[in-house]
Amino acid sequence: MSRQLSGFKPTGHLQLGNLLGAIRPMVAGQRDHESIVLVVDLHAMTVDHDPDRLRELTVETATLLLAAGVDPARSLFYVQSQVPEHTELHYLLECVTSYGEAHRMIQFKEKAATQQQVRLSLLTYPTLMAADILLHDVDEVPVGADQSQHVELARDVAVRFNGRYGPTFVVPKAVNPGFTRRLRELSDPCAKMGKSNGNEAGVLFLLDSAEVARRKVFRAVTDSGREVAYDPVGRPGVANLLEILAGCLDETPTALARSFSSHRQLKEAVADTVIATVRPIQERYAQLRAEPDAVARVLADGAHRAREQARMRVQLVRERLGLR
Ligand code: TYM
Repeated sequence: MSRQLSGFKPTGHLQLGNLLGAIRPMVAGQRDHESIVLVVDLHAMTVDHDPDRLRELTVETATLLLAAGVDPARSLFYVQSQVPEHTELHYLLECVTSYGEAHRMIQFKEKAATQQQVRLSLLTYPTLMAADILLHDVDEVPVGADQSQHVELARDVAVRFNGRYGPTFVVPKAVNPGFTRRLRELSDPCAKMGKSNGNEAGVLFLLDSAEVARRKVFRAVTDSGREVAYDPVGRPGVANLLEILAGCLDETPTALARSFSSHRQLKEAVADTVIATVRPIQERYAQLRAEPDAVARVLADGAHRAREQARMRVQLVRERLGLR
C-alpha cells in the first residue's frame, strides 16, 4: 500500500485553503493509503514566534485536523517536536543539501524579504520538511501548489543520498488537488490565501462564524463585467470564488459558472456553501475542545508509535553516513 504524508504549521488559524488544498485530499486518501499527518510546530519557529501562542495554536490545529476528519485509527497523527528524530534527520540531511538549493526556494525569498532579522531556520526550513517526509518512506505528499518546490527538494535530496550512500529513502512526489491547489485571498485575488498573512478580511478561517464568513464573501473583490465566467487569468476574482465553490462541492468551476447570472448570485452560493462546509467541522471541534485530555492522548499515542519506526530509520541513515 502506498504511503502519504502531510504537515500543517501552527503559525495561525487553519483556513479554507488548508482544507481544500491539503486536509481534504489527505482525509480522502486515508481510505487507500497508509497516512501520516503532522502538526509541524518546529516549522512554526522559523519566523518570530510567541511561545504561549505556539502552544495554543498547536492544540487548536491538532483539534481542528481531527474535527475535519483525520482519523487516528487510520493515520499516524502527532506533533513533530514530540519525535526528536525529525531534528536529527534534519541535521543529517543538511549535510547533503547545498546552500544554493535552500537559498533559491521561492518561499524563503518571499518571507525573508519582509523581515529584518531572518532566522537561519527559515533558510533550512525545506531540509526539515524533507526530513519529515523521508523519515517515513512516503510516496505521495498531498500539498497545495505553494509547497511543491519544497517537495521537489526532498526528492532531489533523496535521489542524491541514495546515489552517494546506498539505497535508503523512498523518493516522494507532490500531489496537488487540481483547481484548489492555490486558493487566493478574497480581497486580493493575486495573493495566496494564507493563515498568517496579516490580512484577515481576505481569508476564510475554518472557525469563522457564519456571519463573518458571509461578510467576507460579500466583500470579495470581483472583476469588471457582470457575467460569471471561469477565466483565472483575465478574471481572477470571480475565478477564485468559483474555485472555492467547486472545491467545497467537488464539481468543476467551468460547469458551475454556467449556473449564475450575476456576481451577487455567485457570492450568495459561495457564502452558503462555505458555511455549510465548515459547520460540521466547527461542531465536532467544539465537542473535541471539551475533551482536551482525549486529544492529548491521541497525540501522545501517535508520537509513541512514530518513534519506533523513526528510530530505526535514523539509525540506518547514521550508518550509511559513517557515524558509529
Ligand atoms: P502550511 O501549514 O502553510 O499549509 C498546510 C497545507 O495547506 C496548503 N495550503 C493551501 N492550499 C491551497 N490554497 C491555499 N491558499 C493554501 N494555503 C495553504 C499548503 O500547501 C499545505 O499543503 N511547509 C508546510 C508544512 C509542512 C509539510 C511537511 C507539508 C512541514 N512538513 C511535510 C507536507 C509534508 C506548510 O507550511 O504548510
